[in-house]
Amino acid sequence: MRFLKISLFSLLLSAAFGFFLWAENVPADKPSPELITQGRELFNQKEGLKVKFACILCHKQEKAIKKSSVEKLGDKLPVIINKHITEKSKGQAIREDSQEMKALMAYIRYEHSK
Ligand code: HEC
Repeated sequence: MRFLKISLFSLLLSAAFGFFLWAENVPADKPSPELITQGRELFNQKEGLKVKFACILCHKQEKAIKKSSVEKLGDKLPVIINKHITEKSKGQAIREDSQEMKALMAYIRYEHSK
């Protein structure tokens, strides 16, 4: 009986651990093409973010944001985007959970950065 309890417990434990490993390895969903397009427009035109200078003004061709810096920034990307909106583009910070922020991050991560 005691043996049964122990093996049942380890079975549960390994199931939970297995699920954890599986969940860890499921790749994050690639953003939709629509979200990337929206981000591209926000990046290239000043109207969407209501800024004085569009991001593209400084981030053209060889000045494009580097993939390695985006990877290094990780979860801090929204903070840095807002820093650039306010300090470089002379606009108002946007909410980190806003549609605009999601679109900008998707565009920068999956299309813009090289
Ligand atoms: C006036 C010029 C200018 C504008 C406008 C500008 N940036 Fe930048 N940005 C820079 C420069 C210069 C760098 C590289 C040096 C640095 O990290 O500050 C940079 C770097 C970055 C980085 C990488 C930061 C890092 O740690 O390597 C991100 C992300 C970024 N910009 C996003 C944006 C976004 C989004 C916009 C538009 C809202 C924008 N920038 C507008 C000049 C600008």
